[in-house]
Amino acid sequence: MTLVSDSDSDSDSDSGAAVRDGGTALALTVTEVAAVGRDVRHVRLADRTGGPLPSFTPGSHIVLSCGHHADGRPRRNSYSLTGAEFEPHSYSISVRLDEHGRGGSRWVHDLAVGDLVEVSTPRSAFAPVLTARHHMLVAGGIGVTPILSHVRAAIRWGRSFEVHYTFREGDGPHLDELRDLCSDRLHTYHTPEQFWAAMDPALLDRPLGTHLYVCGPSGLIEDLAGRARNAGWPDARIHYEHFGVGDLDPGSPFTAHLRRAGLDIDVESGVSLLDALEARGVAIPNLCRQGVCGECRTSVADGAVEHRDLYLTAAEKDAGDCMMPCVSRAAGSRLELEL
Ligand code: FES
Repeated sequence: MTLVSDSDSDSDSDSGAAVRDGGTALALTVTEVAAVGRDVRHVRLADRTGGPLPSFTPGSHIVLSCGHHADGRPRRNSYSLTGAEFEPHSYSISVRLDEHGRGGSRWVHDLAVGDLVEVSTPRSAFAPVLTARHHMLVAGGIGVTPILSHVRAAIRWGRSFEVHYTFREGDGPHLDELRDLCSDRLHTYHTPEQFWAAMDPALLDRPLGTHLYVCGPSGLIEDLAGRARNAGWPDARIHYEHFGVGDLDPGSPFTAHLRRAGLDIDVESGVSLLDALEARGVAIPNLCRQGVCGECRTSVADGAVEHRDLYLTAAEKDAGDCMMPCVSRAAGSRLELEL
């Protein structure tokens, strides 16, 4: 399971000159902006010198520093890379505008050619399995962005693939590009009925060694993964990328006690535990800050957790001995962490 992207799944964080979790920050220039669908803006970023950028695995994302929240806190969002992965001279993202979001997509849509943007180096969380005999790529709406990167790589390396793309009629970002790349390997759908009428038999029909990749809304991912399992697909051959948990209610304040450090940290309503830890200088590895990548997993010594992530299994959540501090909180007034 992986990441977030491409609409307005803002994450709150302390971005500085360097990305906190150890990634390198790059200062890139906007070299192109274009509409690639209804309310979808494509942005190309390159080094000012035109030099090569770090290569990446298909399905990777970058984290943009997207201005600040109204209260002054820096905002960072993850966006999937849509371009070619090998020796890139630019990074491309496509972002759907969400006027009801927390401002990240608006910020990206307001970018103009020549603007300077701070981004992380690419991170991989939705990579193709190189030993797969066939790749079944499924995209819902703006979830097409990492799928596009998979398609380019599959063509480059001569891998067997097919694409199933479902979107509202007249609202398919990157549709023309996909048609050019895939020709008859692209299948498009405009209604759930059309989509499932094609996918159900396709899931039953694919040969051993086929891997399934899906990116789109959570409902689509859960439904497709469930039907694939029912059709006999093992979990190891099902790969998916979420958009993240979306807007969360601010939650109640609580105190996090760090057992090893002997520290008490107050976590206010509307502030994530991860943000509160970082604000006190406690570094926690993190990647998506959206409860989907698993990177910030932290051991819990005592106290009940209000799990809000999309990463832990139901059994792990029931066990209550770990949590994702980027989105999850204490269920009561106090939590003890193995930190
Ligand atoms: S940083 Fe990804 S789950 Fe917390």
